[in-house]
Amino acid sequence: MNVFVTGGAGFIGSHTVVELLQAGHEVIVIDNFSNSKPEVLDRVRQITGKSAKLYEADLCDADAVEKIFSENKIDAVIHFAGLKAVGESVQKPLEYYHNNLLSTLVLCEAMRAHGCKKIVFSSSATVYGMHNTAPFTEDMPLSTTNPYGSTKLYIEGILSDLTVADPDWSVCLLRYFNPIGAHESGLIGESPNGIPNNLLPYVAQVAVGKLPHLNVFGDDYDTHDGTGVRDYIHVVDLALGHLNAIEYVADHKGVMPINLGTGKGSSVLDVVHAFEAACGKEIPYQIKPRRAGDIATCYADSSRAKELLGWEAKRDLADMCRDGWNFIRNNPNGL
Ligand code: UFG
Repeated sequence: MNVFVTGGAGFIGSHTVVELLQAGHEVIVIDNFSNSKPEVLDRVRQITGKSAKLYEADLCDADAVEKIFSENKIDAVIHFAGLKAVGESVQKPLEYYHNNLLSTLVLCEAMRAHGCKKIVFSSSATVYGMHNTAPFTEDMPLSTTNPYGSTKLYIEGILSDLTVADPDWSVCLLRYFNPIGAHESGLIGESPNGIPNNLLPYVAQVAVGKLPHLNVFGDDYDTHDGTGVRDYIHVVDLALGHLNAIEYVADHKGVMPINLGTGKGSSVLDVVHAFEAACGKEIPYQIKPRRAGDIATCYADSSRAKELLGWEAKRDLADMCRDGWNFIRNNPNGL
C-alpha cells in the first residue's frame, strides 16, 4: 500500500515508518520537524535500506497537503502529527487546539477530496480520564484532564462523525498506553527537547549523568509499592500494531477504537530497577508530592487488539530498558 504518515520523523512515527518499509509498503512522510530532526529519516534509511518520500511541510498548510495528495496515490493514512506535551498544553491551550485540530481538518479535507477514506489515528489512553478503573476497555466512558488529552478526544469525535456522514470511511483509533524503548539498532529512539516530562527519558538522562536524580511523584498511591503504575509498551511493538491496523482499515468500514498496551502494569520503582539492571548503574531518586492530574493505576485491557488485529505486545520491560538505554548511550545528546 501507499501509506501517508503524518509526523513520520517523530518517536512513534519513525519506528512505524521502519516497520512499514520493511513490510514492503511505500511510505510518504510529512513532518515540519518542530519536535524532530531530518536525520531521523536518514537513520530509518540506514536501518531499512529503503527511503520514505519526505515532504517537509506543516500539516496545517492546506496547499502543501493538497500538493502531496495530487502527487501521490495514497491508499491509507497514519496520523501521528501533533503537539503532545501535557504540561505545555495547559499553558498553551490555544496553540494545542489550533495545531492539533486544524491539522486534522486539513488532512481529512484533502483525504475526502482525493477519495482516500482509510485512516489510523494516534490516540491515547489519556482519553480514559481519571474516573475509570484499570484495566481500561475501549467502551468505558471517556473524559480528559488537559488540553492535549482533549485534542485527542475531539479528534476521535471528528473521525467518528466522518464515518457517520459517509459509511465508506474506515477509521481505527489506536489508544496508546506508555510507549518507551527504542529500535534495537540503537539508531532511532526518543529525543525530547529540554528537560523530559515523561518517566523513561528522565530516568535515561539521570543514567547518563545529565540530571542528578529522578523525582518520584508520590509514594502513597494504592499500588504494590505506593508509586504510580502504568502500562509501558515497547515502541517497536507499538509500531507493529500500526501495520496490523493498516490492514484492518483496508478490510473494514466504520470506526473502531483499539487499545495498544501490554495489559500489564509496572510501578515507577519497577521501572527504575529495570533500568538500573539494563544500564548497570544506580538511578538516584527522591520521593516528591504527587503530580497534579496523575492517577494511581493505568493499564490496558488488550483483548480487542488481539481479537481484531491479531496483535499482541511481545517485548517486556527488560527489553524496553535495554533498547532505550542502548539508544541514549549511543546518542546522549539525542538526535
Ligand atoms: N513520573 C515520575 N517522575 C517523573 C516523570 C514521571 O515519578 O519525572 C511518574 C508519573 O507520576 C507516573 C509515571 O511516572 O506515575 C508515568 O509518567 P509519564 O509522564 O511518563 O506518563 P503518563 O502516564 O503521565 O502520561 C503518558 C503520556 C501521555 C499520555 C498518557 C496516556 O505522557 O501523553 O501516558 O496514559 F496521554
